[in-house]
Amino acid sequence: MQSFAIAPSILSADLARLGEEVESVLKAGADRIHFDVMDNHYVPNLSFGPQLCQALRDYGIKMPIDVHLMTKPVDNLISMFAKAGASSICFHPEASEHIDRSLHLIRDLGCQSGLVLNLATSLSILPYVLDKLDIILLMSVNPGFGGQEFEPSVLSKIKEARKLISNNGDKIRLAVDGGINLENIRTIAEAGADTFISGSAIFGSKDYPKIIKAYREALKDIEGY
Ligand code: DX5
Ligand code: ZN
Repeated sequence: MQSFAIAPSILSADLARLGEEVESVLKAGADRIHFDVMDNHYVPNLSFGPQLCQALRDYGIKMPIDVHLMTKPVDNLISMFAKAGASSICFHPEASEHIDRSLHLIRDLGCQSGLVLNLATSLSILPYVLDKLDIILLMSVNPGFGGQEFEPSVLSKIKEARKLISNNGDKIRLAVDGGINLENIRTIAEAGADTFISGSAIFGSKDYPKIIKAYREALKDIEGY
């Protein structure tokens, strides 16, 4: 299993001071930055493009930037984000006509690749693309907005995805996105997640070292994988 990673979603950051926000959340102990891309077509909201990813790199951010594409289509943006300094790119399978081809494209451009499954999307396609995946991201809210409540029925899906990953060499990261907070992070980890994407609970706390330390405390001594 991969080591635990805490990935703040910049959607809830103070966007007028994004460079500083990202710097301070990383300094506070975050492991990676989660970058939500929304197109007002695949999801009913609009957010950030590749220029902003490039701007964070130019500002001096060296840690991994994980791009979560909530766009349709995906291939053109995959190329643009790879060029703009993305470390990994995940997309929703419903948004690509050719899932396998899009996954190849991500790796060919030197990034880690991943698929994002919505609440009502089944795990059934995963066995066919496991060798092309670095990340499986399970949504625990409907995509499009920060600050929504964690959907507990996703816990059994996390367990199932963990089994699939463990039976296949344990090299794929299992990320969960949406509604994660101090109350539920341990339960989510116990179900099998290793990467915790959290926006409003981190950026809403105002004391980033404190909340990230509290997350790590909550994740201590978890067994059962
Ligand atoms: C939702 C996004 C999430 C979101 C998480 O569409 O993919 O990354 O920003 O934020 P919280 O932690 O507030 O649910
Ligand atoms: Zn996201």
